[in-house]
Amino acid sequence: MKKLFILACSLLSVISTTAQIVPLPKSESYTEGEFTITDKSCLVYNSRVRDAATYLLNYLPFKQILSSQKVMDGDVVLSVNTFMEPEAYRLTVDNKNITIVGGGYGGVFNGIQTLLQLLPADVYNGKKKLPVTVPCCTIEDNPKFDYRGFMLDVARTWISADRVKRYIDLMAHLKLNKLHFHLTDDEGWRIEIKSHPELATVGGFRGGDSPVYPRYAKFDEKWGGYYTQEELRDIVAYAAQRNIEVIPEVDMPGHSLALGTICPEILCNNSPDLSISNGLDIRNVWCAAKESNYALIDDIIRELSTIFTSDYIHIGGDEVNMSQWKSCPDCQRLKAEKGLKNEKQIEDYFIARTTEVLAKYGKKPAVWNEGIDGGLLPKSTRVHGWASIKACLNATSKGYPTIIMPGHYFYFDMKQSASEPGHTWAAIFDAKKVLSFDFEKQGFTAEHLKSVAGIEASFFSELFIANNPESNDYLDYMLFPRLVALSEVAWSHTRRSWEEFYTALKDAHYARMDAMGVTYRLQTPQVVYSDGKLTASTADGSTLYYTDTRTGKRSRYSKPIATTTPYAYEFISKKGSGISKKTGSKEYFAQLKPTVAVTTSLPCSSKTPITNAAKYNGSIVRTTRAAKAGDWIEYRFAEPLNCREIEIQTGHIHLRRCFLLNGYAEVSYDGKNFTRVADLFEGGAIIQPSAAVHAVRVQATGRSDAENQVVIQSLKIK
Ligand code: ACM
Ligand code: ZN
Repeated sequence: MKKLFILACSLLSVISTTAQIVPLPKSESYTEGEFTITDKSCLVYNSRVRDAATYLLNYLPFKQILSSQKVMDGDVVLSVNTFMEPEAYRLTVDNKNITIVGGGYGGVFNGIQTLLQLLPADVYNGKKKLPVTVPCCTIEDNPKFDYRGFMLDVARTWISADRVKRYIDLMAHLKLNKLHFHLTDDEGWRIEIKSHPELATVGGFRGGDSPVYPRYAKFDEKWGGYYTQEELRDIVAYAAQRNIEVIPEVDMPGHSLALGTICPEILCNNSPDLSISNGLDIRNVWCAAKESNYALIDDIIRELSTIFTSDYIHIGGDEVNMSQWKSCPDCQRLKAEKGLKNEKQIEDYFIARTTEVLAKYGKKPAVWNEGIDGGLLPKSTRVHGWASIKACLNATSKGYPTIIMPGHYFYFDMKQSASEPGHTWAAIFDAKKVLSFDFEKQGFTAEHLKSVAGIEASFFSELFIANNPESNDYLDYMLFPRLVALSEVAWSHTRRSWEEFYTALKDAHYARMDAMGVTYRLQTPQVVYSDGKLTASTADGSTLYYTDTRTGKRSRYSKPIATTTPYAYEFISKKGSGISKKTGSKEYFAQLKPTVAVTTSLPCSSKTPITNAAKYNGSIVRTTRAAKAGDWIEYRFAEPLNCREIEIQTGHIHLRRCFLLNGYAEVSYDGKNFTRVADLFEGGAIIQPSAAVHAVRVQATGRSDAENQVVIQSLKIK
């Protein structure tokens, strides 16, 4: 019996290495033989799936495509069987034909995606020539969740329509079917509204001579863009052909700084203290009491509803700074008149009024999880649970249809390891953690699960703008392979182990992503220092390179490096279009924590004293006003310090906000005289000292970021 079991397992493993489909299908069986698509093969399709047939032509040059023609041997057939679930499909390959039967358009489209994965990986570069062979098999499949989404924030970093279409293509290859399109935020307004053109023509750009204040990066140039309605309609159609519904988001009533700058009449009837924010008005919340605001919302929703075909429009509801309502006499009068218990119920009122507008145009509301905190929203409201697992459990326990997207697993703007770019507020995680998401372990009961409407990944783009936003490399790297793992969580009924999933990535899907031109993240090389030698290795056959950080010279790694300075070497591996993070031996990462006294000319919040900046434990200092020319921060070491590198960074450790933007760093080698060594770049500077250091200092020459505070951090010293 045991022997038989082992035999069965080994057969299974032979078979599973033949296809390596991601996300894992419900059932796959492979038989002897193969089918060849030749330059005589026709693509025969049911007229309902014409657009899917033309989509397939992007990848394979069929001789002819024919609607509902008699099927001949050698043809590839796309058909519909409405007795099946709409997104289910059966893909059959025998020695005569390939047949994809889907329950509806989505089912056939999903079957096409599986077929593409059965072909040589270079099918994805769009230049594939016939013939190609496909192994004989039967694959039956349907999705675990109807809603398999990805949220893309194009407000904080502008991403052009063509680039958005590329991400739609990449989503389609993973059978993801909802693009939650985050189109407005504090940093920009990206939708042309014909009745209020200035929203986009002004609000689409910030920096330079734009009234919209620059944040995060690109401080000195006017930068941004917006989509015309024509472009948005084109995106919607492009996505629909790929079985993807686009759900627009207008983030209200908070996160509206850009809009409030252009239309200050939407803001509350109060006056902020501008003396602490260098004269900047940073109010970003719609007043809930102004009737004119609901008229503007009507104009916006009316136009949106002619562009987007989705039933839902996401209207935001997250992170509303309620102090703006607290100090607004009009909002307080509204609260009293309507018998609202607190400011959260003012938000409920705002959402209910917006929901009425949505209903007028045949649309339903989706909101972020804080939207339900006031307790008044009807159970038909769709909730996106982002802030925590607890928030998802709360929404599902109350019976709201909930999209599960806790930052701790599904926010792909989080770092993938401590030394990589990204946020940390939720977690630091890679694809392995995404794949490990388990409803039961997270406390979801059968009752909670009834309200789970889907799964979504998210990318908020505030850090992208500081990472070469004209290129896709940063975004690709943050998304892949985490988005592949997400698709498996959202689609597959049986979850593979990480080892099985990683095998599919490495042996099959990396090559597909190479052909798609995706800059995906490879697993981190292992680097070990022992017996005076640095040894590096990878498990994926990628090529290793190393850099001597003292000279900047990069070389290909071929054998262990004999050295007494292991902390100076940085390694990277590459394979196809994949790239690993930069890494080194333990010694490379070792951080020094010398005793230091920190002082500043800026007033600090009593909750975060300046001594926090001497602790090296991640605690921060918040000042109580923005910085101006002449302000300074000094770090003075108890003993002269020998080190390789000192990194100064102002701003919040995870949200590079509250920068001290304009200024320079200086270093003192004698404790008295300071030499200017670097201008601040995005609130920070890296110093490579030439001798033992007594002190370093930041000198402000102008304004800080668009906040009424600066955040001061501990130094990072290696
Ligand atoms: C969010 O991340 N503020 C929805
Ligand atoms: Zn108000």
